[in-house]
Amino acid sequence: MDQPNYIRVRDSQINYYIEVPLYHQTGKNGYCLYKPAGTKLTEIRLNQKRHPRLFIQQTDRIIAIREIQKEFNRQISDSIKTGNALKVKATLCNLVEETLAEPRSGTLRSAPETIDSLITGYSKHPDILKAFASISFKDYTTVIHSVNVMALTLGFCFYSNFPLQKTRKIGLAALLHDVGKTEIPSSILKAPRKLSTQEFNIMKTHPTVGREIIRDKNKIGGGVAEGAYEHHEKLDGSGYPLGTTRISYIGQLLGIIDCYEALTNEDRPYRRARQPLETLKFLKNDVEAGKFSRDIFEKFCYSLI
Ligand SMILES: [Fe+2]
Ligand SMILES: [Fe+2]
Repeated sequence: MDQPNYIRVRDSQINYYIEVPLYHQTGKNGYCLYKPAGTKLTEIRLNQKRHPRLFIQQTDRIIAIREIQKEFNRQISDSIKTGNALKVKATLCNLVEETLAEPRSGTLRSAPETIDSLITGYSKHPDILKAFASISFKDYTTVIHSVNVMALTLGFCFYSNFPLQKTRKIGLAALLHDVGKTEIPSSILKAPRKLSTQEFNIMKTHPTVGREIIRDKNKIGGGVAEGAYEHHEKLDGSGYPLGTTRISYIGQLLGIIDCYEALTNEDRPYRRARQPLETLKFLKNDVEAGKFSRDIFEKFCYSLI
């Protein structure tokens, strides 16, 4: 019989596991139950780090991700109440990292909860999302990019006074727009140089893969999957994957905000990051060239103030 596989859990997350049993290693391939399902590790053990390295079974991975997502969502709601932007962003990035870890297994389905905590929090601390832009972390990753795009997009929705339902949908699309990148090799994602034609062709598959993951694997529809599919399309037909000029509103909005965010951050080590104003001037050229909607672009500029 096949031995079950075990995955090491992060020490910082051990106290989040209740339903998931934890195991410790007893020999080269031997594992023993350390904490059964339905219980929490005692505070004393946690505080004094009186526990060995702990593991979960591979088969419990999805329940484990759900438990972690639940705890992170709770922490985000708490930090929003206290107005702590740094804490909110750091927790959010951890949460999105877990959420994007196995998106084909349905882990994206808890993402609307996260958007809801942020929307509720925004009404109490409207400055929190704006503060996100000035908080940068050492490694720029798809996770941080997605969180930034979501914060900017929610800012746009609040500025536009969109109804709650619409804001929720667009915020979710923003958070998940690059989920297809989880299947692009990191040698391409992190290449410290311009991509070769072949590599760029692989990169260009991420909107299609993203739509499939969102729509087919997570059953999230309603424009969210389309937004992910269309965020690299341009109104003059010069985008990808289709090169179409017919792009949904969410697709057009995400296209602008995605470019803005990528240009203001160091998304490629060989390229320097631009200042916000310089970036907007750069994007204005694309608006003049017919690539982006003037109306959405102008509204986006105002929403940044
Ligand atoms: Fe993208
Ligand atoms: Fe993106």
